[in-house]
Amino acid sequence: MSAKLIKGTDIREEILEEVTKEVAELKEKTGKVPGLVTILVGENPASVSYVTLKIKTAHRVGFTEIQDNQSPDISEEDLLALIDKYNNDDTINGILVQLPLPKHIDDKKILNAIDPDKDVDGFHPVNVGRLMIGGDEVKFAPCTPAGIQEMIVRAGVETSGAEVVVVGRSNIVGKPIANMMVQKGPGANSTVTIVHTRTKDLAAHCKRADILIVAAGVPGLVKPEWIKPGACVIDVGVNRVGTKISEKTGKEVAVLRGDVDFDAAKEIAGSITPVPGGVGPMTITMLMVNTLKSFKFANGLM
Ligand code: GUN
Repeated sequence: MSAKLIKGTDIREEILEEVTKEVAELKEKTGKVPGLVTILVGENPASVSYVTLKIKTAHRVGFTEIQDNQSPDISEEDLLALIDKYNNDDTINGILVQLPLPKHIDDKKILNAIDPDKDVDGFHPVNVGRLMIGGDEVKFAPCTPAGIQEMIVRAGVETSGAEVVVVGRSNIVGKPIANMMVQKGPGANSTVTIVHTRTKDLAAHCKRADILIVAAGVPGLVKPEWIKPGACVIDVGVNRVGTKISEKTGKEVAVLRGDVDFDAAKEIAGSITPVPGGVGPMTITMLMVNTLKSFKFANGLM
């Protein structure tokens, strides 16, 4: 059997079209559009490329976008003052401080200074708490877990009563997606297990999973024999395992590999996300969804 491919690239297009349409309708109705600011400190190449794509996507859906690039030498105090300025700017609905930050800046202090109602990354402790409570309390789910849940739902996979096994316990993916899948409500109501580096028998847990979500950051960790036949496999791993020359551009590009042995796993799973082109494109997509949501909250439309 060959699994159905759950393509983030296709789901991204569906969602961005929905967001673009809604932004145009809201502009008509309110005369305003959502505003997103991306704050980039320094010139870390990976961060520059992420932020560039965030800006491009924000423009595509019709948001106002402010690109605020700061010197790597900016003081913590000045960065806090900058966040305070955007917290008090009514045209800004989402504030994103690209991580990692330079070593002299305490990123916890910075993230905690963002108004939780503009925290479209969903990293502020208030939003983490809201997510834990679930239901109407949730404002912004963090973007990667929100993208994973959206992929599972749009692929038509039954989550209610499903055994979900999450491999990895990070604050950005493992813990929040486990928390989201266990909540009452559509796309959730699952029985959830989190496994990690200290788990005694990783394989035995994975074999029980109707939905296996892998965010371990270890290339090829999940072997085909760990997968229950017909399971939905979501591979969050994006591991650089080498470089190659791109056929399209002739330039050197990274070779990416997921946490799951894809070629073998696709013969056993019922549905599976590829790497690249699976979960990856969903993170920025859900950032747009969160910014639109923030605009609607701010304008009493939600
Ligand atoms: N750096 C890498 N991924 C992310 C993300 O999702 N949000 C922020 N703010 N920084 C990042």
